[in-house]
Amino acid sequence: MDEMISGVRSFNEQSNEIKMRFYSRDNLKKVKFNSNFDLYSSKAANWRDTLACVMAPNPPTNDELPEACREVLVQYSEHVKKLGHTIFELLAEALGLKPNHLLDIDCAKGHFILCHYYPPCPEPNKTLGITKHTDPDFFTILLQDQIGGLQIYHQNQWIDIHPVTGALVINLGDLMQLLSNDKFTSAEHRVLPKQIGPRISVACFFTTQFQPFDRLYGPIKELLSDENPALYKETTVRDYVSYYNSNGLGNSPSLLPLRL
Ligand code: OGA
Ligand code: NI
Repeated sequence: MDEMISGVRSFNEQSNEIKMRFYSRDNLKKVKFNSNFDLYSSKAANWRDTLACVMAPNPPTNDELPEACREVLVQYSEHVKKLGHTIFELLAEALGLKPNHLLDIDCAKGHFILCHYYPPCPEPNKTLGITKHTDPDFFTILLQDQIGGLQIYHQNQWIDIHPVTGALVINLGDLMQLLSNDKFTSAEHRVLPKQIGPRISVACFFTTQFQPFDRLYGPIKELLSDENPALYKETTVRDYVSYYNSNGLGNSPSLLPLRL
């Protein structure tokens, strides 16, 4: 985990010439580096640069990954993939389903990793590291360094998620809320900028949004009954994420249009 964080730092602290090779806003690219994926659609810019890598099902080739963090990214990705499988099994059991239920419907088939770099911010009261949002995936495994700034909205207030050495944060995403028919709630979170820094975090999203999968996801049939009818329409992961991206961060919940 420490090596992953130092890898992200090394990548970001190279010369612009080297980083520029990875700069892109092309969604079809497996590896891209940019500042604010929503720069041209959001009302305000966030204080953050991000290296985004689609790592599964078809990982990028070595040449496609930046040298500064290539090796550690590939290793870290293997570890989070395994951990992700276990979490999918535990979540299925928590819903009263067979442990392999979520794996069988391809929830763990894709993951992509966002390596965030939040530079020190001279006027932290004027912007955010990341605007409040829920993640548009099944869940996210989040690694953060010791700087702090991550908050979660709970019982009408923002709560600091203090960094704990060796700990990962798991954020349930919108698609898990949809599958579980609201038994699970996607976590609303944000990152405050800090005058100290940089802050580094690595968010591993379990999502198949980059795959041409046409599987439909809706509330899991086994969880439904006359007393517990479906609360959502079905959607593909791709359609959901493309609506989510057009809706933008911090606006009305993207699950709303799917609500029955
Ligand atoms: C995200 C996210 C939080 C962080 O990438 O969706 O919420 O601590 N990241 O960087
Ligand atoms: Ni998030």
